[in-house]
Amino acid sequence: MNDKQAQGTLNDHLVEQGNQKIRWAELHQRLLQRLRAQFSETKPFAGLTIGMCLHVEPKTAVLCSVLQAGGAKVVITGSPGTTKNDVAAALRHSGVIVYGQQEDDSTRHQENILQVLSHDPHLLLDNGADLVATYFAHPGQGRVIAGTEETTTGANRLRGELREALSFPIIVINDSPLKLIIENEHGVGPTIVEGFMRETNLLVQSKSFVVFGYGSVGRGIARSLRRLGGQVTVVELDPIRALEAVLDGMRVTTLEEALSSGEVFFTATGRAGAIAAESIDRLPDGAILANAGHFSWEIDIAELRRRATTIERFREWVELFTLEDGRRITLLAHGEMLNLAGGGGNPIETMDLGFALQAQSLAYLAAHYKDLPAGPQPVPGEINATVARWMVENLSRRGSA
Ligand SMILES: NC(=O)c1ccc[n+]([C@@H]2O[C@H](COP(=O)([O-])OP(=O)(O)OC[C@H]3O[C@@H](n4cnc5c(N)ncnc54)[C@H](O)[C@@H]3O)[C@@H](O)[C@H]2O)c1
Repeated sequence: MNDKQAQGTLNDHLVEQGNQKIRWAELHQRLLQRLRAQFSETKPFAGLTIGMCLHVEPKTAVLCSVLQAGGAKVVITGSPGTTKNDVAAALRHSGVIVYGQQEDDSTRHQENILQVLSHDPHLLLDNGADLVATYFAHPGQGRVIAGTEETTTGANRLRGELREALSFPIIVINDSPLKLIIENEHGVGPTIVEGFMRETNLLVQSKSFVVFGYGSVGRGIARSLRRLGGQVTVVELDPIRALEAVLDGMRVTTLEEALSSGEVFFTATGRAGAIAAESIDRLPDGAILANAGHFSWEIDIAELRRRATTIERFREWVELFTLEDGRRITLLAHGEMLNLAGGGGNPIETMDLGFALQAQSLAYLAAHYKDLPAGPQPVPGEINATVARWMVENLSRRGSA
């Protein structure tokens, strides 16, 4: 077998592996299956190109196929560290244009974003506002009519630095009460804790945890840790959310105190610098750091690397930094989202719900974009109600099949 044949066999194997994972997700994405049947008839995206930036993993692949069934040409890239190469291979095989691979860093990610935009999409499905920010950084070329944004960090950027630039409507999926309650709290929280257990093989009850940020993601992490018997301290800047944490039975304290008393630190703030250079100075020997937020900027990883005299990699997603002063700090998943970088991400049913909101919102935008104001806006009430009703129907069937 020559090199080319060997490469072909390897790719066939990746495609098959990716397809198996996609098939498993699809079996449990019943909301998307329902939408696939609808969209195959109504073709809401006929003639439209959808440019996507969303984690390239099995559940997203099912969403891509539903958009294709609705008539769309789909072009996608993921986020740094979260692309599953087998799923990317299977998607390419099914006619989706995919840029990127698991190994991509932020520079390559930006190149992938430009590649997606080079297909001149009509609709953008964004995650973290990278597509939108890049689109408006190169004005005058595109034909985008509308978009959706998946997550909190992207919503913050749309309402902050990008506010003045936006010239088309963007539905913020993250603001839907359904996504906040079900995906962020019941999906992200437990899978971040599962990521910690899987990667470190340590006992939750043996550690003192600090969670930075008590939004829906931080709350989900804190509550999941508590359910497993972990000791949890919360650091939260917003006094109302800090009060919520106290009322939930969490210990709430200052950054300084938490740094001296904690052992495992999870960031979930959606902002840069929750664990900044000054905090690295004060972390105890043996500290373990992990991030749940969309960007790795929540922990100053560059500073950690700069101060390290040695970096040992124990497993793919576990690195031990020995600092100049002898302290040993462990970083999980290179500071990327722990539940996605090393694992399977959020449970299938929670993503099914978020993606049903995505697919319906894109179809709504394709039909109504001319009547909507520019800028971020909520998921239309009727879409929330329909998806909630379908989800209740699915969950109510438990045990009665
Ligand atoms: N890993 C995943 O699968 C996944 C899924 C959904 C959302 N996310 C990401 O998780 C992050 C958090 O999302 P959310 O919806 O909970 O956000 P949120 O904005 O609702 O909550 C963040 C909280 O952090 C607090 N905060 C900000 N800076 C802080 C600091 N330096 N120290 C302590 N607290 C601070 C804020 O006051 C706020 O209450 C976002 O980046 C979001 O995009 C990740």
